[in-house]
Amino acid sequence: MEDKKTYYVTTPIYYPSEHFHVGHCYTTVIADALARYKKAKGYDVYFLTGSDEHGQKIEDRAKKAGVSPKEYVDPIIADAKDLWKELDVDYDKFIRTTDPEHIACVQKIIQKLYDQGDIYKGYYEGWYCTPCESFWTESQLVDGKCPDCGREVKLMKEEAYFLRLSKYQKQFEEYLNEHRDLMQPESRYNEMYNNFLKPGLKDLCVSRSSVKWGIPCTFDKDQTVYVWIDALSNYISALGYLSDDDTLFKKYWPADLHLVGKEIFRFHTIIWPIILMALGLPLPKKVYGHGWLTIGGSKISKSKGNFKDPREFIKDYGADTLRYFLLSEVPFGSDGNFSEELMVERRNSDLANILGNLVNRTITMSNKYLKGSLSRIKDITDLDKEVIDQLNALDHDVEVRMDALDLPKSIEVVMNALKRLNKYIDETEPWILGKDEARYPRLNDVLYTIIEGIRLCALELKAYIPTTAEKIFEMLGTDKDTFADSTFGSVEHYQVVEKPAILFTRIDEEELKAKLAKEAEVEKVEHLKEISIDDFAKVELTVGKVIECKKHEDAKKLLVSKIDIGHGEIRQIVSGIADKISPEDFIGKKVIVVTNLKKAKIRGVESEGMILAGEDDKTLGIVSADLETGTIIH
Ligand code: MSP
Repeated sequence: MEDKKTYYVTTPIYYPSEHFHVGHCYTTVIADALARYKKAKGYDVYFLTGSDEHGQKIEDRAKKAGVSPKEYVDPIIADAKDLWKELDVDYDKFIRTTDPEHIACVQKIIQKLYDQGDIYKGYYEGWYCTPCESFWTESQLVDGKCPDCGREVKLMKEEAYFLRLSKYQKQFEEYLNEHRDLMQPESRYNEMYNNFLKPGLKDLCVSRSSVKWGIPCTFDKDQTVYVWIDALSNYISALGYLSDDDTLFKKYWPADLHLVGKEIFRFHTIIWPIILMALGLPLPKKVYGHGWLTIGGSKISKSKGNFKDPREFIKDYGADTLRYFLLSEVPFGSDGNFSEELMVERRNSDLANILGNLVNRTITMSNKYLKGSLSRIKDITDLDKEVIDQLNALDHDVEVRMDALDLPKSIEVVMNALKRLNKYIDETEPWILGKDEARYPRLNDVLYTIIEGIRLCALELKAYIPTTAEKIFEMLGTDKDTFADSTFGSVEHYQVVEKPAILFTRIDEEELKAKLAKEAEVEKVEHLKEISIDDFAKVELTVGKVIECKKHEDAKKLLVSKIDIGHGEIRQIVSGIADKISPEDFIGKKVIVVTNLKKAKIRGVESEGMILAGEDDKTLGIVSADLETGTIIH
C-alpha cells in the first residue's frame, strides 16, 4: 500500500501568559483548522504546539511570586492546555521547552554547531528588551525604545557566543531564489529582504551569561542558550531529532507549514532556516506570517490590557462561534479588528441566519410533509442542475483556497453555497408543494437537494466548526461525513431527526451593546487599581508651602494658591477644596505638590501642578510632610 502523504504544521510555542487572549487563539485555531482539513483529506498530519518557558522575564516573574520558574509556569501551561481543549484544538503534541528531551536536543544542536566552528566566542553589547527577549542595535531602536513593543531597553555588554549567520548569507539567498514559497505572503519577503538581507546579515548572539533560567551551554557552563535558539529548535526536538528515536523526525521533517504572527516572521524566515542550513537539514517548505487581531487599531496584547479571557466568549457563544469568527473575519495576512460585537454580528448573520435557519427549516418541512424521509432525487430540473453543479464544485473550490491558505475565502465559498440553497428554497417554495400530495415526488426532490447540499457544506465546514458539523450530520441521520462522499447524491436515503435542535440562537445586539457598555465602566475603575512602579516613578512629588491663597473669582469651590516649592520657585495652583478650607486657614500649610503635571487652565486660571488631598463627606485631609520645602518625595 502506498504511504500516506504527510503534513507537518506548527504554531509558535507560546510564552506562558496568565492572560491568554483571542490574539493567541488566532494562530492556533488557523493551524487546527488546517490540520483537521488535511487529515480529512487523507494526509498523515502532525500538528505541533507548545510553550516557550525560558528567559529573564519568567525568571523575574517567578521571583516576584516567590516560587521557582518551573513552579511558576506549570499552572499556566495547564491553563493553556485547558483553553485549547475548550476551543476544540486537536493538536498531536504539546511541547514544553522545559521538557528534558527538548533540553537535550538543544544542547546537542549547539554543541554540533560549536564543534563545526559555526558558533564562536565574542563580546556582546547591545540594547536589550526584556519583555521581547530581543537585542537591538542603536539604529534599530525607535525613539530609544524597543521597535517591537515600544518599551524601555537597557544597554548590556557581556561575553557571549555568536552564530555565523553571515557565513550562510550567500547560500541562503541562493536557496531563497529557488524557494520563494518559504516566505509567505510575498509582501513579507520584500520586507525581510530589504530590512535584513540587503544590509547584510550580522552574526547572531546565541548565548547569555546574564540569564540564568535557560538551557546551559554545553561548552560553557556560565552561559545559557539564547531563548530564540532554544524556542525555534522545538520544531525538530518535538520530532526526536538527535534522539534515540527519530522516527517522527524522519517521517515529518521538513515542516510543511510554520504558521506565525508577523512580528516573529524574521526569526522564522532568516535565523531558523540558517540554523537548519548549518545543521545540514532541509528547510521548512513554508512560513506564513499572518497579521494581528487588533482592538481599536492596536494589537491585542496583555500589556495593553485590551483583552478578555477567550473562555468567556466560549461560555457565552460556544467554541464554534469564536473559531468561525477568527477563521472568517480577518483577510488572511492582514490585520483585522476584533470585538465582541463584530463576532456576534457574524454569528447572527452567517451561523444563525444563513446556516442555522436553513437546517432548521428544511428538517422541519421534511418532517411536516414527508415524515422526515427523503430519497435520492429522480427528476433533475435545470434549476436543480444549476444548484447541484455548484455543490459539486464546492470541494475543489474550497481546496484551492485552503491550499493558498486563504481560509476566509474558503469559508466564503461555502457560505455562498448555503446562500444559494436558501434562495433555492424561495424559488421552489416547498410549502406550496406540500399542499398537494400529487406534488410530493417533486417536494422530495427539492428537499433532498437541500439536505444533500447541507451535508456537503457541513463536510467542508467540519475543519472550522467541528461541533456544529457533527450536530448537523447527526440531525441528518447520516454517517456519510467524509470527503470520500463529497459528490452530490452519495446518500441514497435520508431519515432526518424529528425535532431539529437550534444550532445558533440569535443574540440580541442591542442587549449586547448595553452589557458591553456596563462592562467598560467596571473595567475603567479596575484599570485605575494597578500601575507599575515605572508608571509611579514618573510622578514628581515635592514638599511645598502655601504662601498666598484666595478664592477663585468665578468658581466657589476653587482656591487659587501660590505655593513655594523651594529653590526659588513659586507655583500657582488651583484646587477644588474651597468648601472645606478657607484661604486664611490654608496659608502657611505644608503640602505635597505634583510638580511635573502638565499645566492646565481651570475655569480660566492657570494651574501649574496639583496639591495632594483627599476628602470624605465632612473632612478634608491635606497630605503633608514635616520636611524642608523643596524636598522631593521618593
Ligand atoms: N514564544 C514566541 C514564539 C516562539 S516560536 C519558536 C512568541 N510567543 S507569543 O506568545 O508572544 O506569541 C505566540 C503567537 O501568538 C505568535 O504567532 C503571535 O503573533 C500570536 N499573537 C499574539 N497576539 C496576537 C494578536 N493580537 N493577533 C494575532 N496573533 C497574535 O512570540
